[in-house]
Amino acid sequence: MTASTHRAPPHRAFTTLIALALAAGGALTGCRMSTAEARATQATQRNRPHALSPALIEQGRQIFRYDTFGDEQQWTDRLRMHEVVETVPPVTALAVGLKVDADALPPGLLASADLDDPATTIALLKLDAVIGLKASISADNRITRLGITCALCHSTVDDSAAPGVGHRLDGWPNRDLDPGAIIALSPAVSDAAKAVYRSWGPGRYDPRFSIDGLSTPLVLPPAYGLQHVRNETYTGDGPVAYWNAYVAVTQMGGHGNFADPRLGIDIVQTPDLVTPKLPALRAYQLSLHAPVPPAGSYDAIAALRGRAVFAKNCKGCHVSATGTDNNSGRLHLPGETGMDGAYAARTATKAYRTTPLRGLWQHPPYFHDGSAATLADVVTHYDTALGLRLTPAQRSDLVEYLKTL
Ligand code: HEC
Ligand code: HEC
Repeated sequence: MTASTHRAPPHRAFTTLIALALAAGGALTGCRMSTAEARATQATQRNRPHALSPALIEQGRQIFRYDTFGDEQQWTDRLRMHEVVETVPPVTALAVGLKVDADALPPGLLASADLDDPATTIALLKLDAVIGLKASISADNRITRLGITCALCHSTVDDSAAPGVGHRLDGWPNRDLDPGAIIALSPAVSDAAKAVYRSWGPGRYDPRFSIDGLSTPLVLPPAYGLQHVRNETYTGDGPVAYWNAYVAVTQMGGHGNFADPRLGIDIVQTPDLVTPKLPALRAYQLSLHAPVPPAGSYDAIAALRGRAVFAKNCKGCHVSATGTDNNSGRLHLPGETGMDGAYAARTATKAYRTTPLRGLWQHPPYFHDGSAATLADVVTHYDTALGLRLTPAQRSDLVEYLKTL
């Protein structure tokens, strides 16, 4: 742990000093939370329902799928995406990773639909069938307002009707979606910004480019399996409601409030269409369980051996059932696990949270930047970064175990 990689704003210098002193004394190997973070966490712990109310979860599902928080002010008024989407045929929409909710389609529509005709896109939007997009359509079939919802990046479909068309899988990251390519279609974006957006590629998005102008895109993470996880995001910036408000206001462009003095952000918009929805939205996310691995997708005997390899080499950080030591306040400087520190340096904590391991089989690539394409690459990374000297058999056993999580 070095002071140079742990840059903190001046007001945090004192807390940081204490964290450094504790770490140097061997009390912990990661960083301590700042008091602001600790307070935010205590607040969520207090708010966290012991049992999630079914009514609140259902309300949250509606918000997650269909609520734009008034972000039409960004996607329509500023980016003019409604003009773009009107001209896009379904084949193109599917090619940039947009998904269609088969359950919203009347029987037979798919068989007769012309997927090369933009009019079909309008028809699908009218049915609320394009996942993550919400449009108002005029009598003469023009898009008058367009906004996005959480489901855009954090839902996909099971392809049961056709590739890209099926039942919704909420919480599963849409790794086919190319948000950068979509935003780059806006007539309101400068050529320089378009070049950045186009550089991200499918399944990636940089939720801070709009704030600091830097670009180190993140892999879209799952929004499931978070029930007992205290802080969200790759850098553990805050609990789920903190991050939801950050994204809804600063990224989706929702009409609401978000403030974080650590980042120097203080946005106030009246009426606040975000804050009142956060409890229901959180309840819905916490109700989303990680998907179980498909039958026969791993070797159970090898996985049992791999579990012992994991216990010896990984459990120091990926502790307990949640798989993250962040619940006890730990964060890890990038160098500790051989990670690229460029993204962490742009965040409130400057360090990485041990990622809770859930549904790993479902969402390659791994690590915040997708630097490990497969679970075998993850294991190779750690073998090198931590000097583990695992045998080839131990490595493959460990991979089988990871597939079960
Ligand atoms: C444009 C794509 C996009 C949209 C829309 C979006 N997110 Fe995210 N979301 C991301 C990215 C990228 C991250 C990773 C950020 C990080 O870890 O620093 C993320 C992180 C998260 C996480 C943390 C997951 C974890 O394991 O730490 C949750 C939960 C989440 N988003 C929920 C939501 C909700 C709820 C909404 C709607 C209010 C939303 N997101 C809208 C891209 C998106
Ligand atoms: C010193 C603490 C530490 C140890 C030891 C550790 N990890 Fe991690 N792990 C982390 C951190 C921090 C991250 C987040 C890194 C990032 O996203 O850049 C992470 C991320 C991961 C991920 C990515 C999950 C995802 O959804 O992208 C996997 C898989 C993983 N670790 C597996 C392992 C395995 C297997 C071992 C043992 C060989 C191990 N870890 C040992 C701290 C640790």
